Amino acid sequence: MRAGWLAVLVLFGAVGASAQTQATPALRAEVAGIPANYDEAKVGTYTLPDPLVMSDGKPVKDAKVWMTKRRPEIVRLFETQQYGVAPGRPKDESFDVIEKGTAALGGKAIRRRVEVHLSADKAAPVIHLVEYLPAGAKKKVPLLLCISFFPASNMVDDPELPTGEVWDAKTKTRVPAARGTIAGKIDVPELIAAGFGVATFYYGDVEPDYAEGFAQGIRRFYLKPGQTTRGPEDWGSIAAWAWGMSRVEDYLETDKDVDAKRVAIHGISRLGKTVMWAGAHDQRFAAVIASCSGEGGAALSHRNYGETIAHLTAPTRFPYQFAENYGKWAGFPDKAPMDAHMLVALIAPRPLLLQTGTTDYWSDPKGEFLAEVAAGPVYRLLGKSDLGTETWPAAKVPVLHDLSYYMHDGGHGMVPGDWAVYVEFLKMHLHPER
Ligand code: GCU
Repeated sequence: MRAGWLAVLVLFGAVGASAQTQATPALRAEVAGIPANYDEAKVGTYTLPDPLVMSDGKPVKDAKVWMTKRRPEIVRLFETQQYGVAPGRPKDESFDVIEKGTAALGGKAIRRRVEVHLSADKAAPVIHLVEYLPAGAKKKVPLLLCISFFPASNMVDDPELPTGEVWDAKTKTRVPAARGTIAGKIDVPELIAAGFGVATFYYGDVEPDYAEGFAQGIRRFYLKPGQTTRGPEDWGSIAAWAWGMSRVEDYLETDKDVDAKRVAIHGISRLGKTVMWAGAHDQRFAAVIASCSGEGGAALSHRNYGETIAHLTAPTRFPYQFAENYGKWAGFPDKAPMDAHMLVALIAPRPLLLQTGTTDYWSDPKGEFLAEVAAGPVYRLLGKSDLGTETWPAAKVPVLHDLSYYMHDGGHGMVPGDWAVYVEFLKMHLHPER
């Protein structure tokens, strides 16, 4: 029932509606014919790969060895075994500021709109970025960059924004988005009042979210001559979306009003996985807030609870979002040389907030907490604070350090009350001027 409901949402390109708002799911006992476990007693025992031991068995004893040897080794594992290898910065990308700065939100902010052209090829995808910056800021501002399931016109209460476009998964074409904001909209006023800029773009601007997206989004521009199918290490759509975030950061480095060294990133669900990988891979991002990223994101795969790699990569589900190699570990996560705690560790020494929900069993909120606990030694090695506890905190009790965790009382995605915790975390680490 639940799987069918989700499939309908995916079909109509509206999966974000479930993710962005709060839905309390019934337990999905079986998905894609694969049973799911929700019983702590049946999680099993496991030994996680040690992030502080090199693949040749040598211990990592200092920050330099971590940064120059072990970190690149782990990045390579996630590239080849989980998300796929993305290309570098395109030489022919360009930025077109189509709206320089218009008073918005009752004069409290200025709005800027930018087209990030991913290639000089006119047929290549274009990211439609919308920024809001605090009006009258004297210095460059820190900024929260959100990758969203919908265009800015659905994410921000701003009637003057032109309606964006979305992919229609049925016709595989781009169509105008519905008018009006969704329940999980971005709290721009709260961020602006705290001295942050905020920017958002639609993930489908980079690549549509279905298997055939490979031939319609950015990845088709990187096919080798004659190549029609993906190789085992080729990038999946999560890597493509994360790569798009890096291209936005390329632009932000040129924006004179934004401090590109203080850009935090945020995404929900599959876009939570996306920001985990974007933050792990691109060290220019200063902080990461991942909402309910679950399996394939911040939840430990070695723990058999909720969704597993087998569910994620089942042919009828989301294999296209990952490198083909990821499917090799389905059913054998105990053999995998990497797991979510190592993804968390790649974000070190930069701050990370994992936001989860009490009833989001499918995403395993406890498995996300345990991944942060297991990444603690890497944060400490780099002189940063770990979670400060090994006891899973109760709902609505934020644990805010360099490693941070917050579980709202509710289901998958984010709820409006989460914004206050996000802003507190961002203030702690990105020090806005007001
Ligand atoms: C499915 C999938 C999750 C994913 C979620 C989403 O539920 O199993 O792994 O996070 O979709 O992106 O909404």
